[in-house]
Amino acid sequence: MSSKPRQYPAINPSFPNMLHGGDYNPDQWIRTPEIWDEDMRLMNLAHCNTMSVGIFSWAMLEPEEGCYEFGWLDTIMDKLAAEGARAVLATPSGAWPAWLSKKYPEVMRIESNRHRNLHGGRHNHCFTSPVYREKTQKINRLLAERYKDHPALLVWHISNEYGGECHCDLCQNAFRDWLRKRYNHDIDALNLAWWTGFWSHRFNSFDQIESPAPHGEHSVHGHNLDWRRFVTAQTTDFMKQEMIPLRELTPNIPITTNMMGTYPGLDYWKMAPELDVISWDNYPSWHRDDRKTWQLASDIAFVHDINRCLKGGKPFMLMESTPSHVNWQPVNKLKRPGMHRLSSLQAVAHGADTVQYFQWRKSRGASEKFHGAVVDHVGHEHTRVFRDVTEVGLDLEKLSPVIGTTVRPDAAVIYDWENRWAIDDAQALRNGRGEKKYEEVCKQHYQAFWEQGIPVDVIDSECDFSGYKLVVAPMLYMLKPGVAERLTAFVEAGGTLVTTFFTGYVDQSDLCFLGGFPGPLKKVTGIWSEEIDSLYDTDTNGVRFSVDNELGLAGAWMAHTYCEIIHAEGARVAASYTTDFYADQPVLTVNDYGKGQAWHLAAMTEYGFLQAFYGKLAEKLTLLHSLDTELPEGVSAQLRTDGSTRFVFLMNYSEEEKTVAIPEKATDLLTGTECFGTVGLEPYGVVVLKI
Ligand code: GLA
Ligand code: ZN
Repeated sequence: MSSKPRQYPAINPSFPNMLHGGDYNPDQWIRTPEIWDEDMRLMNLAHCNTMSVGIFSWAMLEPEEGCYEFGWLDTIMDKLAAEGARAVLATPSGAWPAWLSKKYPEVMRIESNRHRNLHGGRHNHCFTSPVYREKTQKINRLLAERYKDHPALLVWHISNEYGGECHCDLCQNAFRDWLRKRYNHDIDALNLAWWTGFWSHRFNSFDQIESPAPHGEHSVHGHNLDWRRFVTAQTTDFMKQEMIPLRELTPNIPITTNMMGTYPGLDYWKMAPELDVISWDNYPSWHRDDRKTWQLASDIAFVHDINRCLKGGKPFMLMESTPSHVNWQPVNKLKRPGMHRLSSLQAVAHGADTVQYFQWRKSRGASEKFHGAVVDHVGHEHTRVFRDVTEVGLDLEKLSPVIGTTVRPDAAVIYDWENRWAIDDAQALRNGRGEKKYEEVCKQHYQAFWEQGIPVDVIDSECDFSGYKLVVAPMLYMLKPGVAERLTAFVEAGGTLVTTFFTGYVDQSDLCFLGGFPGPLKKVTGIWSEEIDSLYDTDTNGVRFSVDNELGLAGAWMAHTYCEIIHAEGARVAASYTTDFYADQPVLTVNDYGKGQAWHLAAMTEYGFLQAFYGKLAEKLTLLHSLDTELPEGVSAQLRTDGSTRFVFLMNYSEEEKTVAIPEKATDLLTGTECFGTVGLEPYGVVVLKI
């Protein structure tokens, strides 16, 4: 096992509570200060203890250039402190006042079509503009100077949901400089990496390079990849410059920025090292018509796990979630009774030490006036949603013993942003939005563990593999430098690796490996992948296990979407295709390598295959389970522990009552009842066992 910590301090040790609260916009209610007092009363009633303030407050803090008005924020910070509550204080760069755009048009982003946006909206500033950097740093400094010793200041919330990209001249120059550095000022190195011999795309100098554009260059994959890397680097650089005054003046206040799950635009693994704590905004659409509740729950668990892993298992913040519904999904369905509690505690189960909302109070006007909130337009506490939120507040108070605990799983699934960029860009397989299915495949493999109650880390390919017994690398098309070597060493030392179709095709520049796929993983997997067949939705193939396969797998399963045609070159064949011209050729292989084994699954299969395969593999490898019990369909178990006390969250994501056998003496932290033998879970019910 790894030597990573088992228990972390509270997010800010000066306030060792589960944080509960949300985005609070008192600046929208400055004309009615009596509402501020009412907010404080309601906050206490709802058992909320933390409010995120200042997220979009720039125009209220600096109404004219250089004229500041902090009075209203002083009042709010004082009111929060007087109630014993805390503030997650934001820097306001997510949106800016109109005077700034008028005077300094360079702050307004230029889109990839090379048109400059007009003033308005949010999350649309240039990330290079020296003026925007100077102005944000100035206001951040003033905030830090003013509140550095304020008792309410708990956490810094940098900007809001960084995203998008700017293609202005300043950014073009920054991109060229970034490329010069990456390629050591050697344009031929860039030409090779981008394979610019294709279509006469060769460059003579870095000055000739521009960012990708829909009406210009967009078909050079190395170029696209490097642009995306640059966007992450430049956004991170912008974030770091926002942090300078905060680090200087408030070295003990932890810093976060709210991320957006698997948002494709930013590689969060590159941002995470700069932050003290990870936070993310989670808006699943529960109760859908196309997915079972528990299937969606597994997908969300996958993203929670990414957030826990971004800082090596350290508890994260659920910065935003809705207490009821959002207003931007195709269908904005209400959370059914019990779902608010279940989905909130799901975050905690996977490592969150907070449950926070967007938003505290519904605004009267503009585009978010019908977005769910703790306090509705009616203005009082006698609403279903307010009662749901209060219930979560009470639960969180009982969950203080869980603060700082984590989980150290035996299994990890690799989900890699750069790999995703490369796969999505590839003109291959099945083209069209969402057709490549990388994220879907990762989530499917993950689900096979989730439903068995086996905790999993979801990691980047550059993470350390050595603490795991099992590493699953679905569709790891791109192998960055050292990854194949580290995966090989992992297997050699006794680890089990699972790879799939579309693994080991290209290097970090999206240049294909020569000499056969899976490239540098050929040796450890003991296979050669000769071709890959992309199927129509109506096409299928079959998977038939070899009689003497070593996991004792039986049954017949369907293969679909992608069928790779592989040759065993040292590996043993555990299953073969049943039809088409590649019938009887291998679809599942296993190779002994050093002290470990490498499995390769050459096709996308129906889920039942993954259930069977990972069920047996988990048994063979004796993977850590959250609880030693059989879980009925729809129920998940998730562990948090400090190494001695175990907290097991049993969650029923189904619309029926379920019963779970409890093998050890335990207490339900939420009700204080002793559980032994069995425990009943009502629809959407949660039990938190303390063992
Ligand atoms: C995002 C933003 C919030 C709000 C919510 C609405 O997460 O950060 O400001 O717009 O979406 O769901
Ligand atoms: Zn720009």
